[in-house]
Amino acid sequence: MDDNPARPAPGQAICALADIPEPGAAGFRYREGEAMFAGFVVRKDGGVFAYVDSCPHAGWPLAGISGRFLTRENDLILCGGHAALFRIADGACVAGPCGGKSLTVWPVRVEDGQVVAA
Ligand code: FES
Repeated sequence: MDDNPARPAPGQAICALADIPEPGAAGFRYREGEAMFAGFVVRKDGGVFAYVDSCPHAGWPLAGISGRFLTRENDLILCGGHAALFRIADGACVAGPCGGKSLTVWPVRVEDGQVVAA
């Protein structure tokens, strides 16, 4: 957890779970004054996974102009910057220029059909 004032507080609703396709992903941006927090939520195989939207390679947002967070097969997270690939379940980089690094988990939980910051 960081002290970014733009990060949604624990308990704050992010979206309805049904708003994210399964499998699929959606990105969210929050602003508080000068601070900005960007994260994305992935649904896959009944699981919900969320990460800070910052690639460990160069810090770019992952979706870029494509708006896509996942590969065409929806089996890995893709960074549009330089094509790094990450496992959905734990954010570990499995290919590309940031091998050995991982996405930063954005803790969330599902509560009453809502994805909520944890
Ligand atoms: S910024 Fe993601 S692979 Fe380079």
